[in-house]
Amino acid sequence: MKETFYITTPIYYPSGRYHIGTAYTTVLADTIKRYNQLKNKETYMLTGADEHGQKIEKKSKEANKTPQEYVDDMAEMARELWNKMDIQYNDFIRTTDERHEKVVQKIFDKFMEQGDIYKGEYEGLYCVPCETFFTETQLVDGKCPDCGREVVPMKEEAYFFNMKKYEDRLLKYYEEHPDFIKPEYRKQEMINNFIKPGLEDLCVTRTSFDWGIKVLKDPKHVIYVWLDALTNYITALGYMSEDDTLFKKFWPANIQLVGKDIARFHLIYWPIFLMALDLPLPKTIFVHNWIMMKDGKMSKSKGNVIYPEDLIDRYGLDATKYFLLREMPTSQDGLFSPEEFVQRYNFDLCNDLSNLLNRTISMVNKYFDGQVPEYNGTPNDVDEEIEKVCIEQIEKFETLFNNFEIANSIQEIWKLIARTNKYIDETMPWQLAKEEQTEKLKSVMYHLIENLRKIAILIKPFMNETSENILRQIGITQENLITWESLQQYNQLKNIKVIEKGEPIFMRLNTEEEMEYIKQVMKK
Ligand code: MSP
Repeated sequence: MKETFYITTPIYYPSGRYHIGTAYTTVLADTIKRYNQLKNKETYMLTGADEHGQKIEKKSKEANKTPQEYVDDMAEMARELWNKMDIQYNDFIRTTDERHEKVVQKIFDKFMEQGDIYKGEYEGLYCVPCETFFTETQLVDGKCPDCGREVVPMKEEAYFFNMKKYEDRLLKYYEEHPDFIKPEYRKQEMINNFIKPGLEDLCVTRTSFDWGIKVLKDPKHVIYVWLDALTNYITALGYMSEDDTLFKKFWPANIQLVGKDIARFHLIYWPIFLMALDLPLPKTIFVHNWIMMKDGKMSKSKGNVIYPEDLIDRYGLDATKYFLLREMPTSQDGLFSPEEFVQRYNFDLCNDLSNLLNRTISMVNKYFDGQVPEYNGTPNDVDEEIEKVCIEQIEKFETLFNNFEIANSIQEIWKLIARTNKYIDETMPWQLAKEEQTEKLKSVMYHLIENLRKIAILIKPFMNETSENILRQIGITQENLITWESLQQYNQLKNIKVIEKGEPIFMRLNTEEEMEYIKQVMKK
């Protein structure tokens, strides 16, 4: 039986088009999923939409739609984007799905019965025209962040989840499970900022709006968004339903991805809910940073928003994904700029990768009529060195990737690409041909094709089309030469013929023109 692997993205608010920042979490999840699939695991990826709450209710009114119509349209839009981005999710859960709503109600009742949820009073700052509660920190200059009007202190009856009860258990769990929170520094942040100062009980219902899941035994209360939203990760698998096969198979999740803004909900409330349900916790919750622009956050009012579709239509999906993953460091925010995008395209994709492929294909054609020479078993020093480098780079890639240092891991692949380009300059095949050193020349060609094959496998999780394109051009079609295990082999290529004329996979961009193009679509 295959090892299972369950990965989740947050479920997205249907608040408008997704920009490249929002798309990042899902691209990352898809990459990690594909990597594990390549490693022969039975993978399952969940994504979806977080459709309840007062904000959505308001947005739908603005759009002259019922909330249901509004979220239906938005879910369709999300699916279209994920299809365009070739995201291989297995399930798309919506919090308005009956399968989800029913179970959330059951979970709420269970918490009530256990005494984890109690009735109290919610006190907050209320904006009357917007009919919304805010916390002190959400206000802008002491006023409503939405309409800018005065807010007034208000109380309403509400249910609360007793978080304090689980505080010690949570801390102990953090301590005993070093892999639970990644990167490590996020754990300390949670402890220092939220747990040590004392956990506050969480308000889990509201009566001031309607668009949500009703508490069965007290239907004037609507279950507040986070208790509703977080449970999607298990309701999607059929937890507490008639058919919980998937739940039994895939829970606990191997990895749950979240952006830094929602770290607190996932690192504190979510594990506590799971403890209260007496369920195992996910093995790892990985918190990623944000993609920022030079002038800060992406926002429509600043005119600095970039949408994935605009990049994909002009530069292709692989270049877009490459940029997003390559530019996001683990310990700080990533930066998007038109300059950087075009440079990465020209240097990394065109100069380094595309040229390596082209040079190799044209040499194999020129010297051996396209037939890849077989491994001769007696590599000389330079060839031995390139074999060693290749193995080392693969190892480095894996170690970093397994630790979710994705940008760094990709950098290791590009070091291998650079080193392979340098190998051509070092061995000077044109000189070997002139001097008729055929055995050496054969060996160089063999090693170039081998490295390209490995590079194609390594980039497969995030540049699938490019990977397939490279493999096709170098004539690798057999399944057993495209597996993860085959990365360890250096002598299996037999009877391989490259295509007659190499096709460039990335063409050099005109820097000025393309920077201008990107700036224009950002303003649009
Ligand atoms: N609905 C909640 C999640 C509930 S999960 C039980 C939510 N939705 S969201 O649509 O606002 O955000 C979805 C994801 O996009 C989050 O992980 C968020 O961190 C991420 N990002 C939003 N802007 C981003 C960037 N600029 N850069 C990277 N990720 C960003 O939060």
